[in-house]
This record gives sequence, C-alpha cells and structure tokens, in this order.
Amino acid sequence: MKKLNRILIALFIVLPTSIFANEGMWFLMHLERLNHRDMQKMGLQLTAKEIYSINNQSLKDAIVQFNGGCTASIISSNGLVLTNHHCGYNAIAELSTAEQNHLKNGFWAKSLDQELKPQSLYVRFFVRMDDVSERILSLVTNTMSEKEREAIINKEIAKIQEENSDGGKYTVSVRPFYQGNEYYYFVYEDYTDVRLVGAPSESIGKYGGDTDNWEWPRHTGDFSLFRVYADANGQPSEYSEDNVPLNVNYHLPVNIGGVKENDFAMILGYPGRTNRWMPAEGIEQNVKYAYPAWVEGSKLSMDVMKKYMDKDESVNLMYASQYAGIANYWKNRQGMIDALTKHGTAETKRKTENKFDKWANKPKYKSAYGNVISTINNYYKLTNEKSQHDNYLIGLLRSSKFSILPYRIGRGLENYADANEAKRKELVPRLTALISNSYKEYHLPLEKEILAEQLKLYTSKSNYSLPELLSEVKQINDFTDYVEAIFNLSMFGSKEGVEAFLKYPDKDILSNDPLYKLSSAILAKYREQPEMLQQPLNDYQKSFRLLVEGLRESGISRIEYPDANSTLRLSYGKVRALPKDTRNDAYINNYTTFKGVINKYKPNDDEFDLPKDMLKFFENKNYGRYANKDGELAVNFLTDNDITGGNSGSPVLNGKGELIGLAFDGNIEAMAGDVIFDKDLQRTINLDIRYVLWLIDTYSNAKNIIDELTIINN
Ligand code: ARG
Repeated sequence: MKKLNRILIALFIVLPTSIFANEGMWFLMHLERLNHRDMQKMGLQLTAKEIYSINNQSLKDAIVQFNGGCTASIISSNGLVLTNHHCGYNAIAELSTAEQNHLKNGFWAKSLDQELKPQSLYVRFFVRMDDVSERILSLVTNTMSEKEREAIINKEIAKIQEENSDGGKYTVSVRPFYQGNEYYYFVYEDYTDVRLVGAPSESIGKYGGDTDNWEWPRHTGDFSLFRVYADANGQPSEYSEDNVPLNVNYHLPVNIGGVKENDFAMILGYPGRTNRWMPAEGIEQNVKYAYPAWVEGSKLSMDVMKKYMDKDESVNLMYASQYAGIANYWKNRQGMIDALTKHGTAETKRKTENKFDKWANKPKYKSAYGNVISTINNYYKLTNEKSQHDNYLIGLLRSSKFSILPYRIGRGLENYADANEAKRKELVPRLTALISNSYKEYHLPLEKEILAEQLKLYTSKSNYSLPELLSEVKQINDFTDYVEAIFNLSMFGSKEGVEAFLKYPDKDILSNDPLYKLSSAILAKYREQPEMLQQPLNDYQKSFRLLVEGLRESGISRIEYPDANSTLRLSYGKVRALPKDTRNDAYINNYTTFKGVINKYKPNDDEFDLPKDMLKFFENKNYGRYANKDGELAVNFLTDNDITGGNSGSPVLNGKGELIGLAFDGNIEAMAGDVIFDKDLQRTINLDIRYVLWLIDTYSNAKNIIDELTIINN
C-alpha cells in the first residue's frame, strides 16, 4: 500500500512535465519551479536565472515584442533587431515607392545614416512580471454579476498600473490567465524610434507566398533587420536626428555550428492567442459558423484587391501588407476547419467535458459546478447564427476602409459642428491630422468595389438580424450602383469633401450623409449587445471560468501553463523531423536546403520567382562557413516547440542561449494547435540562422551588419 502510494506520488510528480515535454508556453518566472529540471535533461545549459532575472542581466533582456503583433531579438550591442520579413513587411512596404522599391528589390543600409524611419514602429522591452491573483481575486466573489466583478477588478488593475509605472516611464499591463482564475502584471519599456536596417527582396523573404504559407517543406528567407534608437541617455525618445543607436547591456550571440535531430531548442516570444480550454461546442461553432464566414469574406476581398494590385505597382505597395494579413488568416482558418474536423477535436473535448460533468455533479461539487457544462452549451446554441453574422460583418470591417472611416471622422465632425468658435479652433489641428492620415493611401476604385462586394455578401448571407438601413439596401440588390451613388452624394468620398465641411460645418448635411449613415449603422451593429443575450453571456463567462477552475481542481485537465495572450513565454522542445515527406529532398526531413529553393524556382511567378543572381550563387556553391557538413546551405528547419501567431520573429536558441534560428510559421497538419496541442504532429518552422547570415554576408555583401554580430562557430 505504502509502495503504491509512493509510486502514485512519483507518477504524479513526474507525469505532467515529461509526458508533454514539448507542450506549453511557460511564464519565465515559473521556469525554475516547473521546467528547469526537464529542460536540463533535454539539453539546457543555462540556469533559470540566466534566462530570467529581474535585477541581473539575463536572456529576457534581448527579447522584444515587435510593433505589438510579433517578436524580435536584439543581436548586437548597438540595438540591432532581428525579426521576420513578414513582421517588418508593413514598414518595408511603407518605405517603398514604385521607383525605390525596397519590398521588391531588398534594402541594405551601409551606414547608420542610410537607415530608414517608418512612420510608426515600436519595440517593447520586458522589465519584469509578478503574480497579483490573490490581490485581485480576494476582492470578488462568484455571486457577483460578471459586470460588477469586472468593475472591481478594473479598479484594482488601475491601482497596480499606477504603482508600477514609475511615473509613466513604464507601460504596465495586468492580464487574466486561466480564464480569469489568475492575474499577473507585466512591466514594459517601449521605444518608438525604430528604423529599417536591411531586408532581402520580397521574393526571398516571402518565397513560396500563400501556396507555401503554413506548409512544410518550406524554403523562405523570412527575416528583416531594424535598429532601436534612443536619446543620448539611452532613454526612449520620439524620432529625432539627435537620437543614437540604443546601447544594450545584453544581446544574443549567433551560433552557426548548425543543428541536428534531437538538439534542444527553446523559443522566447509573445504568442498571440491560444484557446486550449475551449469547450467542444465552441469548437463546433467555429468550425460550422464562424470560420466558414471568415474564410468566405477574406477570399472575396483578396480577389478584389489582387485584381487592382496586379495592375499597378503603387497600388500593390499600398495594399501588400493588408493583403498578406488577410491571406495569412484566410489560409489559417481554412486549415483550422480541416484539421479540427479531421482530428475530431470537438469529440475529444466533449469526452473530457462529460468526465468533468460527472465530477461536477457529485454532491460535494454540485452547487459550484453542477450547471457549468449545460450553461456553456446553451450559450453556444444561442449564438451560432450570431457568430456567423459577426464574422461576415467583421470581414467587411477588416477589408473595407470606407466601412469605418466615415464614422470615425464623422463623430469628430459632429462635435466640431456643435462647438462654438473658440472650441472649433481648438479642435481643428487634431481633426485635420485625422483627416490627412485617413486619406493618405488608398485606391478609390478598389475601395468602392470591396465595399460593394462585402455588403452584398454580408446582406445575402446573414440570416441573423441586419441593420435596418441595410435591410432596405438589400432590396436594391445592385450594390455597385448603390455604392457609386452614395460615394457621389457623400462628403467622405474625398479628403477635399471632408475638409470643406470644416469650413462650412452643417450638422444636417452630416447626419444625412449616406456614407456616414452607412458606416454608423454598420458599427452600431458591430457593437450591439442584444438584450436577450445579456444574461446568457453573463452566465457563460462565469461558467467558462468555473470550468477551467474545476478542470484544474479535479485534475481532469493536465494543462499547467496559461493560454497565450500576447505575453512573454518560453517554449522548449527539440529539433524534430516530420515523418518522411517525399517533396523534401533533404537527407533527414527536419530541414530544407538552398537546393530545394532552386528546385521550386519558377521565373516570373508571383510566389516562386527569385532574383536572377540567386542561380549563379547556387552554381558557385559559395557557402563558406555557412555550409552544413554535406556542403549544402540549410534554409529552414523544424522543431516541436509549442508556439502560435505572435511568436513570429522569435529567436530559436540552443542550450547555451545562442541564436540558431528564427521561428516564422507552423505546419498545416497541426493547425488545430490553438485549441489542442498535438505532440506528434505539431511543428514550428524556423529559418536557419546560417541562411540569414549567408544572405546578409555573401549574397548581399552587407559586411557592416556582420561586423556587429557576435558569431560563434562550434
Ligand atoms: N503563417 C505565418 C504566421 O502567421 C505568416 C507567414 C507570412 N507569409 C505569407 N506568405 N503570408 O506567423
């Protein structure tokens, strides 16, 4: 008996970490307690403090969040920043013109004064984090309504922010974890003067385009380089000619020794969103209602955009980044539908929920958890149609500039029209700036067609309630004519039209403006919270929180790490091949080579074209110290780390904390990864650092950048 107990205890201690070795997006402050032993066994040679220490220099100092949605790392003492090409894409496109086309041709600053400042781009350094669960949760009870609860929590959050911001020096963010069962705060320091240093041509950086996106085998040189600037004291500062490269106390060394199967690999970064506790019915709702609408709306916009982008390079540069963003999630959501269906993910979750329901209805737990599952299921049943409707509507808002712009500016204009002379004078600068920013870059024919097509789709597909205005419009049925007509009648069709209003403000004209009316109706619909859903929503939120609490308390779920929510995490795993893929000509299917790049080459193709001189470089095989043991140039490689979107640009590090690659994608087989981790199939696709350095050094001859790096070769 005693022995059995001991075995059970031992199992209990050992199981969670070793069974799920590669699963998990861990908090840095928990590594010591939860992961360090496991990581050491797998090949980590650093102490937990060398990864995360508040007071001493540690790895975390070299990891930054890049412009909100991506990750990057600091790779020189002069604030050189390495991220993905697709993360720098927007900035590179913005800094390009049809004549000086850095997106198309690549760009390399040969000295600091050639580095280019995009309009807005920031990097966020991580200072520290801490647990405030006790502090926050001791203030609330489960008998409160969710609204009351939220109000109390928000008040406390504001206090925590105030206490830790050091008089505004830091950005402090307090976030819920485990579906509101824990809270942590994060202290950040933001730098807003960030400049482009270098990028390969789009044909290399986005090689394979949407065809290869989310797929293995992969051959993409997905990287770009930026630099953080600061004032003379190293403090964050808005752009100024006097700013200097940020002198950092820690940067990542680069190891060009290469990787092999089973090598330890860890990835630090800012994964965006996972939903590993999502209930079965939630998955069903996404697969059957939400995602199909998302996919359909995205494809429609992509087709319209592409038509105009292909005709005119300046239109292409205007929309390239938005297009890539829509296309990325168009393919992702279709991949999710396929993977979740194929793997029967909802069914797997339902089994867990049935187990939970049994546990929850034991006398001891019944009062707290007895209704959790039925409440959750009821809510999803009530909202299936709405989720489809919302996704068509969001699809419209996501791709149509003129679905939002008139409302955004119009509200300001309404205030303006209401104000007296003095107040108007005061409002003018902000309004003028808003107007000129809003009308900076767009192609009117494209915008009109997107709006017409999206309205047509939205009104025809949504069985849920439409805004009144659109129910009327729906009768017309010729949306092209309708959109043409309202643009002709509206002041919002051009910048000049809106500016004229500032001279002759007339509220009647504004309230009758057809684009303003349309935009207002659409946004009102988007924000609407139907009365009949208020109570079910309240109960659902509470039940979801209790579900996660109960799953953890009962031990039915073994998930020990919190869902991703754009906070800094570490994932550890190994270099790991996927079962043989005959499309990959590499010897072991955990990497691809430059030979594979050349094999995919299709001259003048949209996605598989290459700069002509790449072929010469291939013939000469001049890979120098960047070649692998077989004399090949490795391009991308696979690890089994647990990451998601937002990790893009994250450094992949070996056991010594040296940079071996750059995470940039996940494989399509594991697309269910955001709601369930597949330890056999899930892979991260990484860019081999040797390909990065070869492209900078040998191919682009940007020696100035190579000179800045700390390169290790062993
Ligand atoms: N799938 C990648 C991610 O979400 C983005 C890749 C961008 N490349 C592209 N061809 N759209 O992290």
